[in-house]
Amino acid sequence: MADQKDPEINPSSVANHDEASGSGTQISESGNPSPSMNQLEGDTVEEHDSPGHDEIDSSYGDAEFDANSITESLASSVKLFREEHGRTYHSYGTTEYWGANDEEAKDQQDLRHLLSSFLDTNSRRQTISCARKKSTVLDLGTGTGIWVMDVADHYPSAVVKGMDLSPIQPLWIAPNAVFEVDDYNHTAFDVSPNHDLIHARELLGSVLDWPRLFRKCFEGLKPGGWIECAEPDIKVTSNHMPMPADDPNAQWVEVFRQVGQQTGMTFEAAVRLKGWLEETGFENVEEVVFSIAVGTWPRDKKQKELGMWNQVRLANGMRDFTERRMRNSLGKQDVEIEALIARSRAAVQDSKLYTHQNMYVVYGQKPEV
Ligand SMILES: C[S@@+](CC[C@H](N)C(=O)[O-])C[C@H]1O[C@@H](n2cnc3c(N)ncnc32)[C@H](O)[C@@H]1O
Repeated sequence: MADQKDPEINPSSVANHDEASGSGTQISESGNPSPSMNQLEGDTVEEHDSPGHDEIDSSYGDAEFDANSITESLASSVKLFREEHGRTYHSYGTTEYWGANDEEAKDQQDLRHLLSSFLDTNSRRQTISCARKKSTVLDLGTGTGIWVMDVADHYPSAVVKGMDLSPIQPLWIAPNAVFEVDDYNHTAFDVSPNHDLIHARELLGSVLDWPRLFRKCFEGLKPGGWIECAEPDIKVTSNHMPMPADDPNAQWVEVFRQVGQQTGMTFEAAVRLKGWLEETGFENVEEVVFSIAVGTWPRDKKQKELGMWNQVRLANGMRDFTERRMRNSLGKQDVEIEALIARSRAAVQDSKLYTHQNMYVVYGQKPEV
């Protein structure tokens, strides 16, 4: 991955300023020429023999023309989103991500950021890391890029980069924020070793090899740099009431256990983050578990508001979390998918169950020497 270059002086990154898609995202220098999803699905790539003289493009050798046209077509191909059942999905990358990348999905991600802002999670590590002069910060799987934009606004001397499969980030961003299209599951994915902070939030169900990704992050941090991960436990449960025997949340967890096994990308990363970071060699690893209400049942005002947003997010997002994986990974029919979505949605809206969900936030520091 072509990491941490000044967005304004990096001539090799491809500025992909497309007003129509609202994206100011660049394509990674590795461009990883990752196979497109079409290639992954078995389409063959045409092979060409060496051309005879009459087949040679007369403009060949004009380096600027060639570079531009190649990067332009790469730029437009990553924006050709796939359409499935009325939703759009990324086209770039070596693995199929479960979530859509349309407006509905973006609202969903921004709601997730709002939830985080209620939790006193990261300010200390972020302050330590970003207070360093000209610190460099990376957000893996940045989504709408809202975390990057927040941190870039807070720390104008930091360079804050977000990477993602989908170029869905806004065009008008602070000069110290940059977005790049890249794929952390690609074997060539790399993080250059100049980072002060690496952030990874809600990558569940999308990482092929967590230990490998954490090794890349370890190599990509300066001595003393921090990694911060945040993942939800997918179980929604209750400390106050027995859950019904046919609890759809339990069924949902079981279905996603199968999906994780089938795709090799687990949805149950939260509880394993601490162990993975320690095994990688991070020090001062700390796990904080936040219990977030699902619904407005807590007495505490802040918890009540948090619970309300969490409930809205889970109810609205149930389709986003569920649909593509049940259909594409497990081959389930629409009727079964719709039934599970409807029942799970009703369960998260059942105020008599006093349910909650655990959110894991885990930090680790690369040793100083
Ligand atoms: C649930 S969203 C979380 C977005 C953001 N981190 C947040 O917390 O708001 C997961 C994001 O990871 C991205 N993603 C999934 N697989 C990826 C991959 N292999 N490489 C890069 N990004 C990926 C998705 O496109 C999506 O934007």
